[in-house]
Amino acid sequence: MANPGNYRVGLFQFAPRLGDRRANLEAIEAGLEGAEAELFVLPELATSGYALQERQAALAIAERPEGSEGLERLQALAERKDAALVVGLPLHEGDKLFNASALLRPGRDPVFYRKLHLFYRERELFEPGDRPPEVHEHRGLGIGVMICFDWVFPETARLLALAGADLIAHPSNLVLPGFAQAAMVTRSVENGVFSVTCNRVGEESYTDEAKPLRFTGLSQLLDTRGERRIRFDEVETRCAVVEIDPAAAADKMLTPRNHLIEDRRVDFYGELTAGNDEGGNHDA
Ligand code: ACM
Repeated sequence: MANPGNYRVGLFQFAPRLGDRRANLEAIEAGLEGAEAELFVLPELATSGYALQERQAALAIAERPEGSEGLERLQALAERKDAALVVGLPLHEGDKLFNASALLRPGRDPVFYRKLHLFYRERELFEPGDRPPEVHEHRGLGIGVMICFDWVFPETARLLALAGADLIAHPSNLVLPGFAQAAMVTRSVENGVFSVTCNRVGEESYTDEAKPLRFTGLSQLLDTRGERRIRFDEVETRCAVVEIDPAAAADKMLTPRNHLIEDRRVDFYGELTAGNDEGGNHDA
């Protein structure tokens, strides 16, 4: 355990290999070797790679909530490290396939978040998440999860803050130029939460598109006032650990007179929750 009041958070930025679950699990196990933390955050779709072309290929490499090779190895890793892990992975549940993340904790069942806001071609493979984001506790820290493009919708982070998140884990495969890393400063400040954007590096290509996707790296951990406590570069593969004081997330006073949650004017926010014609996940 870290010093009293302190909590160690690890980020592992790497380049998953498209379609090679075994290689990715080995890379994760090797990447976390020797690092000690209470919580590790990994990228989106870390077990599978991103640019899966066909639903069949995605199904073949997906994890299953009732147990599958990747989940079992990741659970064993959480037990061995005596740490919580947040790992992005494809999740096959009933007849649905989600772009999901698992929160694995020693001695506990995995819990999943299913990405609400699908990006670009993801909707050719995945169903959008079908339940609200939740917060789960690990050693006194309230951990909320959102995935990559969820950053564009500030409601996601707000929901997590309202549900009691001290820290938002944000597994990512970001390709737009630094927007999310900048926006997460605001997500942290406006909610008074730590945020951990763990992005990937490298390139992948859809076979029917000439231009590869280039992942932007720049993984970061932000404190509750938006200060960058660590920032990776655009290409490096490494695991780094940062100590935080979770108690800072209890302080929602941005100034002595401004409370981030209690000062909301919800009486004027009704329009924000009015339905849209597309029901979300608009297709061109
Ligand atoms: C993204 O949501 N993977 C950009």
